Amino acid sequence: MATRTPLIAGNWKMYKTESEAEQYIQALLPRVSTATDVDVAICVPFTDLRAMVDSARGSRVEVYAQNVHSEPQGAYTGEISAPMLSELDVHGVVLGHSERRELFGETDKALALKVPATLSAGLVPILCVGETEVERDSGDTERKLRNQIGEDLAGVADEQLAHVVIAYEPIWAIGTGRVASPEQAQEAIAFIRALIEARSPEAAARARILYGGSVKPDNAPELLALPDVDGALVGGASLDPDSFSRIVAAAAP
Ligand code: 13P
Repeated sequence: MATRTPLIAGNWKMYKTESEAEQYIQALLPRVSTATDVDVAICVPFTDLRAMVDSARGSRVEVYAQNVHSEPQGAYTGEISAPMLSELDVHGVVLGHSERRELFGETDKALALKVPATLSAGLVPILCVGETEVERDSGDTERKLRNQIGEDLAGVADEQLAHVVIAYEPIWAIGTGRVASPEQAQEAIAFIRALIEARSPEAAARARILYGGSVKPDNAPELLALPDVDGALVGGASLDPDSFSRIVAAAAP
């Protein structure tokens, strides 16, 4: 069986100016320097990218952006392209977060272009998927996940699939303190892995699938011990270097 190195990624969302980010990384680096067999990432606002890449260079912390345009360049005012990120030595980019889908009209059609554009620029995509509370209550969770995975990854060749990180983030668990139960997280993530397996068993064995939604230091050990959960995408608890490093430690006990 393929062994998958867990990934603990902090999604800062629209928090931290550059000087706040600098303070944070100086506090984080010594706290995660001894954690082995775990990848650590922070997904930061565009304005923090260069400073975070410079400060994290040579450490185990990878720096991700939170959005990208699908075209390498063009007349797209206010947008950032994948080559722009890779020239900065950014490691990857979070795509399709539910906040972008719900608040900024991000569509599966756009994501079907963004995921391959990210991979072509040598960046790692973290593709977020997940159902609303209404969809879960009406038994539509699997249909939603099947549609999102099917559409968003349609432009990725089977040989490339293993390079995509998927984050299962049930929308009702984001920022609510209502974490999914271990059974719910395992079931949804095993379902996503089966969808990948239908395209490529090899990719399914290697691709990392994370859980996100109210992950905290106290619930992380149980979630991270689940067989199909390969790490976490952490929102609120990633904003403090102490709580974030405790989640990293839970992935590498
Ligand atoms: P919280 O951890 O604050 O629930 O946010 C989860 C999330 O949206 C990570 O991308």
